[in-house]
Amino acid sequence: MATNRTFTMIKPDAVRNGHLGAILAQINAAGFRIVALKYTQLSTDKAGEFYAVHQGRPFYDELVQFMSSGPIVAAILEKEDAVADFRKLIGATNPAEAEEGTIRAKYASSIGENAVHGSDSDENAAMEGQFHFAGTEVFA
Ligand code: GTP
Ligand code: MG
Repeated sequence: MATNRTFTMIKPDAVRNGHLGAILAQINAAGFRIVALKYTQLSTDKAGEFYAVHQGRPFYDELVQFMSSGPIVAAILEKEDAVADFRKLIGATNPAEAEEGTIRAKYASSIGENAVHGSDSDENAAMEGQFHFAGTEVFA
């Protein structure tokens, strides 16, 4: 069943490179409404917990170091078919394979430093949203 919410993080590389405003504008222009928003920095513990599903992968340590290397913006987004449509908007994990005009094609530099996260299922969108936001921080 399609949901109307997904979860995103604008990753440390995109914030560091000054793309925060442009990425939020592109997200809004694509029809997503921001229902929760936070500018924060993950500890290595928190980043490790968030990406626990990738534990044991060769890139896991690099991923955890990178995701805790600077501030990020976390957000819950609302739109019809949010999960699938947001994955389309951000493009492939590897920016070299991302379709032209997608956020990763425009702002990511490598498969590791790829500018944005987007949930891959309704279940994960809900879990990831709860990982970052208390109920009082979500504005439906
Ligand atoms: P997310 O939206 O961030 O979850 O990306 P994704 O769903 O497109 O990819 P996946 O969940 O498979 O991987 C999570 C993150 O791990 C990616 O976004 C990358 O930042 C990182 N990652 C994945 N594969 C590699 C890799 O081969 N090398 C490195 N350095 N990082 C990787
Ligand atoms: Mg993923």
